[in-house]
Amino acid sequence: MSGVIGYVGNKAAKPFLLQGLNKLEYRGYDSAGICEFDDQLNVYKTKGRLSELNKIVEDKDLKGTIGIGHTAWVTHGAPTTENAEPQLSSDGSIAVVSDGIIENAQQLKSQLLEAGYSFTSESAAEVIAHLIENNYQADLLQAVQATVKVLQGSYAILVLSAKHPQEIIAAKSESPLVIGIGSNENYCASDVQALLDYTREVYILQDGECARITKDHIELFDQAGFIKDLQTEYIEWDQVQVEKDGYEHFMLKEIHEQPKGVRETIANRLDSSGQLNLAEEIPPELVKGINKIQFIACGTAYHACLYGKYLLEQFLDIPVEAEYASEYRYNRVKADQNTLLIVLSQSGETADTLGAMRVAQDKGARVLAVTNVISSTLAREADAVMLTHAGPEIAVASTKAYTAQLACLCLIAIYISQQLNGVVDQELLTGLRMIPEQIQKVLHDCEPIVQEYANRYATATDAFFLGRGIDYLSAMEGQLKLKETSYIHGEALPGGELKHGTMALIAPGVQVVGLATQKVLLDKIISNLQEVKARGGEILIIAMDQDFDYSNAGNQTIFIPEVHPLLAPMLSVVPMQLLAYYTTKAKGLDVDKPRNLVKSVTVE
Ligand code: M6R
Repeated sequence: MSGVIGYVGNKAAKPFLLQGLNKLEYRGYDSAGICEFDDQLNVYKTKGRLSELNKIVEDKDLKGTIGIGHTAWVTHGAPTTENAEPQLSSDGSIAVVSDGIIENAQQLKSQLLEAGYSFTSESAAEVIAHLIENNYQADLLQAVQATVKVLQGSYAILVLSAKHPQEIIAAKSESPLVIGIGSNENYCASDVQALLDYTREVYILQDGECARITKDHIELFDQAGFIKDLQTEYIEWDQVQVEKDGYEHFMLKEIHEQPKGVRETIANRLDSSGQLNLAEEIPPELVKGINKIQFIACGTAYHACLYGKYLLEQFLDIPVEAEYASEYRYNRVKADQNTLLIVLSQSGETADTLGAMRVAQDKGARVLAVTNVISSTLAREADAVMLTHAGPEIAVASTKAYTAQLACLCLIAIYISQQLNGVVDQELLTGLRMIPEQIQKVLHDCEPIVQEYANRYATATDAFFLGRGIDYLSAMEGQLKLKETSYIHGEALPGGELKHGTMALIAPGVQVVGLATQKVLLDKIISNLQEVKARGGEILIIAMDQDFDYSNAGNQTIFIPEVHPLLAPMLSVVPMQLLAYYTTKAKGLDVDKPRNLVKSVTVE
């Protein structure tokens, strides 16, 4: 995944481009570059971090008032300066930045080589630049329109030409691209976050559309090349929401934003008299007559799906399944018009998740999306959308989106149970209303303990997360958090599975987190933990029942408040998120941007 940015106006483009790229950093990158037009196209690019690019351009008085920029997560070739974008056409008159993957890049490149073009990089953006040059007659827009017709895959591109130095051409398919509307200046970016300092009025480019963007005008064209009305929208998020707000890292800030995220996710959907107000978002017809529910997602969102499945299985007699989206899309999909597909994605742009959803849609399934981004592809393509109101999530490790997803799933499960069986679990609903304050309490009570305890993890190479029943699902999320940020190998296991193999790895000093929040399974998990302790494992217990004696089963016990057992995952995950955060910090690693990972995986 990459980030693209563009500016056209009366001011020098450089500051906007650099600041915008900074805002897109979270998407992950290993090279960066900008191109401005000032009598000619001037390209500055480098492998490595944005700071390297800043060093190259900081002393340059770049006056060009139009420009494009890029942070690249290289998909073709190595992360070198040559492969960095912007890329130029062979005559140097056209500059291109791109996000996504052009699946037929190699084939197009062979055709261009045969036609006499030569290449200086392995970048797909260079292929696009040459194709535009090849298609160019006198109109840049037409040349781009002709070019995108032959591109296969997902892309968002921005094109700047020395022959048309007043305009940027934008085009996209599947990868996100937003146009920002300013006064005597206009902008574009892969993500609205890069624009919020400048404007809240945006147009989200749709697949197949092209736009010609000048400083005071935006012309929009559909796939067939016909001009379209530009219907802009207003983005409510403000810049403060996407900044660190005094926290050292976005991950810590976002962990602390969970009470708010859950509160806002349940607000207006659950009134003070205990009534559920979901019928507008999830029309009763969407669930009427369903005989199967399937959940799909990736990563953390998949763990939330497991929770949704667990809840719905408590209430319904129909089959409820959960599958990784990347597997679902290539398995034999058993969905039809009586299947409700519930698709979870923080970003709403995860390629595998969208791909899987489309497969199920082709089979006739009805789709309910749960996403954090209203303008996302997922939100647009689903039959119904339930938004998580977690606010923008910047850290690669998902935290507040997860708890907001669990809250949404709780509401959805109760609603579906009401629609299909006429039964509402009032106890669960009442309990859900208390969750924001209870997360706050967990943060307050646990953070100092976990911060201290995390020192034990600084030298650990492995950690095991044990739980039973619903606690096992939370354990899966706990191990992912630790693994992705601290690079410590994490593994989640149902407590009863230990003795079937993994116990061989338990030795003195091995770190274990034991989740013990479920009263009915307490004796069982405690005896599993005692077996671990007897072999020298060091155990952090996350428990709910304060009257129980945990002293023989762990080294440290953290208590979450007493809640309905089905709500415990929204609380028990918090100490595990903090453990991942403080371990990563203690190891001096890049908390918000772990190596090899990006925030939103928009390619397969
Ligand atoms: O945007 P999505 O929720 O679709 O993203 C899915 C996963 O890529 C994401 O949850 C990933 O696993 C996170 N890094 C986990 O913290």
